[in-house]
Amino acid sequence: MRRVASSALWPRLRALQIYGANTGVGKTIFSSVLCAAFQKKLRRVQYVKPVSTGPLDEADDSHISAFGSGIKSKTLYQFDEPVSPHIAARGSSLPISDNEISVALYDELKSYATGEDGIAIVETAGGVLSPAPSGSTQADLYRPLRMPTFLVGDHRLGGIGSTISAWESLHIRGYDVQSVGLFAEGRYENAAYLKDYFAERNIPSFSIAPPPEPAAARDEDIKAMKAYYESSSVNAEVIGFVESFLKAHDKRIEDLREMPKQATEAIWHPFMQHSERNEGNVVAMESAYGDYFQTYTKQKDVPSGAGQEEKALLSPAFDASASWWTQGLGHGNPQLALTAAHAAGKYGHVMFAGAVHEPALTLSQTLVHRMGNARLSKVFYTDNGSTGMEVAVKMALRAASKRHGWSPEDNVEILGLIGSYHGDTMGTMDCSEPSIFNKKVEWYQGRGHWLDFPQVKLRDGQWVVEPPKSMRKTVGKTRTFNSLAEIFDLDARRADWGRYRSYLDAELWHLRQQGHKFGALIMEPVILGAGGMMFADPLFQRCLVEAVRGIDPNIDNAKAVDGQGADKDWQGMPVIFDEVFTGLYRLGRFDAAGFIGADPDIVVNAKLLTGGLLPLCTTTASEAIFEAFLSADKSDALLHGHSYTAHAIGCSVANESLATMSKLSQSDDWAGFRQDWKASLAVQETKDVGKGSTPWSMWSQSFVETVSRKPNVDYVFAIGSVFAMSLKDPAGSGYASTAATGLRDRLFAGSRAGEPVIHSRVLGNVLYLMGAMTSTPETLKGVEETVLEALSR
Ligand SMILES: Cc1ncc(COP(=O)(O)O)c(C=O)c1O
Ligand SMILES: *[C@@H]1O[C@H](CO)[C@@H](O)[C@H](O)[C@H]1NC(C)=O
Ligand SMILES: *[C@@H]1O[C@H](CO)[C@@H](O)[C@H](O)[C@H]1NC(C)=O
Repeated sequence: MRRVASSALWPRLRALQIYGANTGVGKTIFSSVLCAAFQKKLRRVQYVKPVSTGPLDEADDSHISAFGSGIKSKTLYQFDEPVSPHIAARGSSLPISDNEISVALYDELKSYATGEDGIAIVETAGGVLSPAPSGSTQADLYRPLRMPTFLVGDHRLGGIGSTISAWESLHIRGYDVQSVGLFAEGRYENAAYLKDYFAERNIPSFSIAPPPEPAAARDEDIKAMKAYYESSSVNAEVIGFVESFLKAHDKRIEDLREMPKQATEAIWHPFMQHSERNEGNVVAMESAYGDYFQTYTKQKDVPSGAGQEEKALLSPAFDASASWWTQGLGHGNPQLALTAAHAAGKYGHVMFAGAVHEPALTLSQTLVHRMGNARLSKVFYTDNGSTGMEVAVKMALRAASKRHGWSPEDNVEILGLIGSYHGDTMGTMDCSEPSIFNKKVEWYQGRGHWLDFPQVKLRDGQWVVEPPKSMRKTVGKTRTFNSLAEIFDLDARRADWGRYRSYLDAELWHLRQQGHKFGALIMEPVILGAGGMMFADPLFQRCLVEAVRGIDPNIDNAKAVDGQGADKDWQGMPVIFDEVFTGLYRLGRFDAAGFIGADPDIVVNAKLLTGGLLPLCTTTASEAIFEAFLSADKSDALLHGHSYTAHAIGCSVANESLATMSKLSQSDDWAGFRQDWKASLAVQETKDVGKGSTPWSMWSQSFVETVSRKPNVDYVFAIGSVFAMSLKDPAGSGYASTAATGLRDRLFAGSRAGEPVIHSRVLGNVLYLMGAMTSTPETLKGVEETVLEALSR
């Protein structure tokens, strides 16, 4: 697996990072003063300069060794040219990627964690946002380690502003700035101003005298500097910082250790049987970055003395549930953080009744345009998938009832698929059939009829479409296919098309005979997520849409569905696609509807909408649905809204996320994924009606096939960022099955030395893995190797 640096935290080795508000503010002098001050308290003081530019003898580490006796110093990457690292690195043979440098720094720090009380002081180059060798910023380069930070403020003219700007840049990236220090410079009184400014933010700051002017003779200069360091390192405020830093380090560890226990006292967790909860199975997340959580690892026995290697207290865990399917652009994404901060600064939250702002308008227009569904025209905003689905149901039932003249006594129902999940509010629960989720909810009242459906599976290296037993008489036995792409080549599957339609037409006829009145067809296109990760045959879903719309199977399908040439009004019953999980690139393309080549009347999106940063949901409806609520009477309106409807921060972040994901979809990494699955290399942004669309996955074909052949695996599938494996459970499948929990626990315990562990979730006997849109092929390859290893254990 691509090595990743984790948050740097050991019991006895402390790490402190020195950032500067600008270049030339005295980072190296402060580093030396702090080294000297820490030396009075700790046995081991190590200075590290990860990246240095300019001639070796002028390097900061030689300054440190010249003045601090007994202080070890080290430079990791030395570029000779005395210019910014991004320029110095051009044409150099040294590694320049952020990942290589942060991993090298992490390894260096780790080598100091030998059980001795010590500190490593890490000095950055230039200012907070000065370029790293790769061209990214210093603050982004070192973010994976998220070391406690000391900011050296700017004592010069204009330094108040640059110091505050630097702090804001660190703060917005999730750094904890523990203190600010700067040279006392009488003329500008920066120190006095900043002391008050930072005190209000609970950050202590202090100033020390600037170093003496360089003397002409080298001997004298060295003498003067030595004296300067001696006096500065006993400065009461410097000592105050050293003491508070040491305390903060211990408190940070103590807090992390205590968090799970306190959680069991103060928190009611989602989806958990609390009789099984204890301190040991609540994971303390210190922070997160990119694909990884930084999780606290309890140490059974902390080494008691020098010479015993310390175990890191924090370790990266691959977020394999993509944080409940929201994660798109990496944890702690600075661009999204900045976008959110900008919108917070511009609007805060503004109510949305009878109002509009640019982020909501832009997002609505983008969604309608990108979905390319001629029916859709109006976007309604809510906060999350459940509420967005609830609105969709309200819309559809009303439209259907109005057209058919149904009243509440008519007991309008929904038509759906077995194993669907649409959320946890009362209304959306009623859209799913009775199950373990709603069995003990007093107000639950399943209001619908749910059809079973054929599933796509890769079993023993063979792609199959497996109809449920109840359908076999009409639609025949399990079919085999040479590839996933063949399953999605809907036009080529004429025989199945006919069989499915006969089956569905008969089913619908029966249901109508029984007196059912359906107000909506509700489906999760392609993958039914929370109900157990089931891959529905896209052709069956396509046929179901056609059947409820009463489309004649004998006429040209491409023209019949989807509003191309057909009426944009709904037919039969409104069709709702719940794309909360499957939409917005999850399955490799903008929308999931495109895979089945049918245009819904209402689409619901959430989760990836904001790249995984904020709860936000859109319910996009057709003009015909919208018009069902138009009249002169207010009571005919959709009288629905949330406090945070269309919050500007969420809409801004969504706009940014969609733009970023669209760029990613055209990246080399994604082209590589497509190539692996021999999917068409053309970017699949446009709808390919009738033919479906070539599927591919971020998980490699060979991995997916290998897992499908493991003896304890029943079947697997992969599409887009999703991989799922169903494990054989002699005791039967279903949400209560425990077959997958053993594997989940092995993945989290880890065994491959130096490799990140995997934090995954299971649904019954299904364990799934999900990447973010930004996960790299190397990262996913490493996850694959870890999973294969755990499966054979
Ligand atoms: C398909 C589907 N619909 C709706 C929801 C509910 O979304 P939320 O959890 O944001 O309320 C989910 C959540 O997992 C989902 O997967
Ligand atoms: C939406 O995102 C694009 C791409 O980043 C940006 O250029 C545009 O200004 C954004 N619009 C709004 C309203 O946030
Ligand atoms: C979802 O939205 C509803 C309605 O605003 C709200 O009550 C609920 O707390 C939201 N849930 C989350 C997780 O945001």
